[in-house]
Parts: sequence; C-alpha cells; structure tokens
Amino acid sequence: MKTAPLTFPIDDVERVEVEVEPHVEKWQDQEGNLIMILHSIQNEHGYVPREISMELSALLEIPLARIYEVITFYHYFKLVPPGKHNVAVCNGTACYLKGAPQLIADLERKLSIKEGETTEDREFHLETVRCIGCCGMAPAMVVDEKTHGRIKISDLQGILDETKKGGVK
Ligand code: FES
Repeated sequence: MKTAPLTFPIDDVERVEVEVEPHVEKWQDQEGNLIMILHSIQNEHGYVPREISMELSALLEIPLARIYEVITFYHYFKLVPPGKHNVAVCNGTACYLKGAPQLIADLERKLSIKEGETTEDREFHLETVRCIGCCGMAPAMVVDEKTHGRIKISDLQGILDETKKGGVK
C-alpha cells in the first residue's frame, strides 16, 4: 500500500499541547465531544495527525485505541494528509454501469495508488463516492471543485495533467 508519509509539522510535546488544548477546551463539557474535537482538528489540518490523537488521549483520559476506533469507523476522518488535488470518481449505479470501474482501475494505474490512497508526492488523492447527482452525465467524477461528465478513459491523463498544472479548478 502506497500512502504519503505523515508530515505533521509539530515536532515537540509542548507544541502539540498548544495545538490540542483549544479544541478540547471548546468542546470539553459537551456530549459527543470526541467527534466534535476530531472534526475541528481535521478541518484545520485536513486529517487527524497521530501526535494529536495521542495528546487527545492524555487530555481527555480516553484510551488511544478508542480514539482510533472512532476515526476508523467514520469514513470522513483521514489518518494521512490529503493530496493537493482530490479525485473523486462516482461509483454509484449509473456510473458503475457506464464504466466507472474501468476509470477507477485506469486512474489507479496512472497514479500508482489504490482507491483511498494518496500519491507519494501528495499531488493526488483518489477516492470513490456514491452518486454525485449527475447521473445524466455518467460516468462522472469530481476533481477538486470541478465536475467532469461522460468521461472516457482517454480523457483521464489530460484531466490529471491539467489539474496538476492548475488549469482545472
Ligand atoms: S450514479 Fe454517478 S452521478 Fe449518479
């Protein structure tokens, strides 16, 4: 499995505390606070760094394993930094029937990663999603903010190249 290494810039305990404490203070007395804290951490960093989970475990007096149970239960939370560009291929029924699996396989080959992973240079994250509401344009995918419809395998390299150059937003 090829995923980007963790590169959380916090390298000492004191700085991790400074980072985590405001999130904990804000949600400490509220029900379901662990999820809310994880949400605000992910909103800030794009993922939940391990160092922060460890600090949260100490501050909230919750076993680290429990925190990881929550993070891995919800698809939303990420454990590795996201890619600079997000490629979300729809694999809902209409897109599936129009060839989404072949698009996904081709993207996996081109990017040398599996669905759910980020390239080593952290340029692209590849994921599959369920129906993005553009079934009439199947097969469809969303790259960063832009929706692409009726995609052919021959379109993919161009979309990736343009995205990397910053031409597709
Ligand atoms: S199934 Fe892909 S957009 Fe609806």
